[in-house]
Amino acid sequence: MTAANTDDHKPRPLRSVRAAALKGEARIPGDKSISHRALMFGGLARGTTEISGLLEGEDVLRTAAAMQAMGAVVDQTGPGQWSVHGTGVGALLEPTAPFDFGNAGTGVRLTMGLTAGHGLNVTFDGDASLRKRPMGRVLNPLREMGAQVSEAAEGDRLPLTLKGPETVVPIRYVLPVASAQVKSAVLLAGLDCPGTVTVVEPAATRDHTERMLRYFGAELDTKNGYEGREITLVGRPNLRGRQVAVPSDPSSAAFPLVAALLVDGSEIELPGVIMNPTRSGLVQTLREMGADISIDNRREAGGEPVADLIVRGSRLSAIDVPADRAPSMIDEYPILAVAAAFAEGTSQMRGLEELRVKESDRLRAVVDGLSANGVTCRIEGNDLLVDGTGGTGRNVPGGGTVKTHLDHRIAMAFLVMGLATDNPVTIDDSRMVATSFPDFTPLMSELGASFEPVG
Ligand code: S3P
Repeated sequence: MTAANTDDHKPRPLRSVRAAALKGEARIPGDKSISHRALMFGGLARGTTEISGLLEGEDVLRTAAAMQAMGAVVDQTGPGQWSVHGTGVGALLEPTAPFDFGNAGTGVRLTMGLTAGHGLNVTFDGDASLRKRPMGRVLNPLREMGAQVSEAAEGDRLPLTLKGPETVVPIRYVLPVASAQVKSAVLLAGLDCPGTVTVVEPAATRDHTERMLRYFGAELDTKNGYEGREITLVGRPNLRGRQVAVPSDPSSAAFPLVAALLVDGSEIELPGVIMNPTRSGLVQTLREMGADISIDNRREAGGEPVADLIVRGSRLSAIDVPADRAPSMIDEYPILAVAAAFAEGTSQMRGLEELRVKESDRLRAVVDGLSANGVTCRIEGNDLLVDGTGGTGRNVPGGGTVKTHLDHRIAMAFLVMGLATDNPVTIDDSRMVATSFPDFTPLMSELGASFEPVG
């Protein structure tokens, strides 16, 4: 198997135009965070892991290629169906070539934990977006565990070479940023450690690593301590291959969901979307804004709480989103800001410093994109303020071109915006959508949206 590569193609601008009511059922692809982890834990476990509903986006395919290069046998057996024959903890092989993770922050950061924890010597690289993102947040705890970093670009950035120690030093690490990627990298580095590794998170972040490690057979204890949630992993677990059914990604569902809210008369169903409390901040926030979202048939799927969402076109009111909600909706601010542009009143989204280090500086990209389309908005410190036009008797003008900066979520958020603005919204490049939601365009078209190639 090989990872897809968009590096050498030309930008592909796309324009979205005002839509009539969106209708139908949209089956959202598998969760990106869980897809990466399923391949990693499957690749580490003894025996065979059968994965269904894997997100076959470019980011995840890079992780599949990396696991294969370290000795796992990874095969696609059908659409979304993958079989992974793992090496066993402690038995990963040193890859013979550098890892190029493309656009994938989760893939690169978690794999760094894995390779350092296994004493491997690996060179990591990525695309222009990934090369700008901070890796020190992962490298610092890995250094404490005995790893060495060489040939790093300035500021602990990619490309860099990471060499794991012969024996990992067990640590207790208090996260300086609320980041599931850093938490997961430390836990993964602890897998081949002769002792326990503890990560303390002051604010709860997505807990898929903890859920899946337990499911694959690891001993993992969580408790609330004075500094936050403490997660302790007992090293050298006997991970065994499992069946993993990946449920639908709430961060991808967010785009058709907001589209249906903004386009009058819409009614769509999104079945089986993850409703894990560490991921459901957007649905909570939109409902507080007056969004008509029914949450039906709550159940468990693939070890996660899921539900069917029914979404209807709605009038929205402005919202003040507290900073402590950010981890549960960290990837959803671009699309929430778009929703806020149509709401009645000024919305405030607080404590968004982490948005500056995503696939792009999303705080800047959102403000520039909204401004280019006639929305009044501003950044105050780490807060984003958006003046909604709802209630002003006028609609959002649109008509602008948005710079996407190699960021899939900026691309999709503004394509959704153009479905409800007076004039079309153009994005400068739609290629990166394939990193997380390869079928975004056909899925939205099926609901009634229309996107036109430009040029
Ligand atoms: C992810 C964690 C988040 C999120 C990213 C996926 C994960 O990043 O933004 O899309 O799978 O662990 P941070 O850990 O940097 O907040």
